[in-house]
Amino acid sequence: MLQARDLWKSYGKKAAVSGVSLDVNAGEIVGLLGPNGAGKSTTVAMLCGLTIPDTGTVTVGGVPVGDDGSLVKRRIGLVPQDISLYEDYAAIANLELFGALYGLEGAALKDRARAALELVGLSDRARDKPQSFSGGMKRRLNIACALVHDPDVLLLDEPTAGVDPQSRNAIFENLELLRSRGKALLYTTHYMEEAERLCDRVVIMDHGVVAASDRKEALLDLLPPEKRTKTVVRDASLEDVFLHLTGRQLRD
Ligand SMILES: Nc1ncnc2c1ncn2[C@@H]1O[C@H](COP(=O)(O)OP(=O)(O)OP(=O)(O)O)[C@@H](O)[C@H]1O
Ligand SMILES: [Mg+2]
Repeated sequence: MLQARDLWKSYGKKAAVSGVSLDVNAGEIVGLLGPNGAGKSTTVAMLCGLTIPDTGTVTVGGVPVGDDGSLVKRRIGLVPQDISLYEDYAAIANLELFGALYGLEGAALKDRARAALELVGLSDRARDKPQSFSGGMKRRLNIACALVHDPDVLLLDEPTAGVDPQSRNAIFENLELLRSRGKALLYTTHYMEEAERLCDRVVIMDHGVVAASDRKEALLDLLPPEKRTKTVVRDASLEDVFLHLTGRQLRD
């Protein structure tokens, strides 16, 4: 569904991305991991046409994502790393605004806005403003804004930064539902356990290049033998205990 070939981007003398290629198929979640400054956000910006690559191509369903405001961009949804909401507009108004930007109108716009809010569990807060929301609720609304036009490709840039395990699990369940509906998802994160839980394949970036790209199980083969067992056999984590004790109910 999403295909990037040999993407390069420099800012002045600083090479941010140096020859990145990746694919995301329909019905698949691909993790994009890498340290701060690895070039993840720059890559994501090129994938959705927000940043024009110095060289390289991006296609969605075989159609190039150009810089000309082409319709193919409507098949992409972006959840930006920094939350971008209109704080003093009601949640539903935020969704209608983003939907209108993508060309929706009338009953279709209202239906899609309601559906997106429902998906992220915020239907009962439709009339409230984001300025009264917790960080987790804002993150969920930020995701809904990227979904309102029902894109085939969803790019998520650290969508769980600063959210509690309840909201994180709710977000994961939303994303798994979208995967089951055949969407192609690219999920950027710093949390390894998120990638392990959620992603079918993982791309690891560093210094602007792809250091490894494979199924999770295959990536484990990159470890020396003495380090493998611990990674494969995973003991219950603190998060398991936390969720057991505090439940999975959303708090806000
Ligand atoms: N607009 C810009 N102008 C100049 N340099 C930039 C710009 N955007 C990114 N860079 C540089 O490009 C490199 C890659 O940045 P990028 O934001 O893509 O990394 P990242 O992997 O998303 O990092 P993080 O995990 O911190 O979000 C960094 O060295 C960064 O300083
Ligand atoms: Mg980033």
